Amino acid sequence: MLRRVVLTSRSIGTAGLSTVSLAHVLGAGERNNRRDQIASGMVIHGDRILQALEGPALEVGRTVARIRADPRHTDVDVLVDATVSSRTLTEPMVLCEDAEAFLRSVNLSCLSLMTPEMAEAVLERRLAA
Ligand SMILES: Cc1cc2nc3c(=O)[nH]c(=O)nc-3n(C[C@H](O)[C@H](O)[C@H](O)COP(=O)(O)O)c2cc1C
Repeated sequence: MLRRVVLTSRSIGTAGLSTVSLAHVLGAGERNNRRDQIASGMVIHGDRILQALEGPALEVGRTVARIRADPRHTDVDVLVDATVSSRTLTEPMVLCEDAEAFLRSVNLSCLSLMTPEMAEAVLERRLAA
């Protein structure tokens, strides 16, 4: 059974996730997600973070619990938590290289305005691409 979770959060500190902690998040995420057969995509814009995770239900649940407890961010908001039949993401940890372009593509000025419907639509569009 595959589980998909999409969450938003706000990084702690004025300049968003520092380069050092971002490198740590991406490194640990890549390693753990690969081990746990989880695919994940992340967008960071200013202090806002959007992340989608897909994988085995149990592992996704454990990972989301660790992410929630991480003091590097706060205001964790789960937009989507669903059972899905296929993956839309393929890599353990991908950081979107152009957050501005991502926001333009969904017609938003801030990641915090993302709705569950929009998050689902973005992922389904990836599947169709
Ligand atoms: C925004 C954000 C996203 C994260 N995403 C993941 C993730 O996808 N997978 C993961 O294992 N850890 C992720 N982490 C890191 C976890 O909170 C935690 O530090 C890590 O899982 C601990 O791994 P370790 O026990 O191997 O050191 C994320 C942290 C933040 C702040």
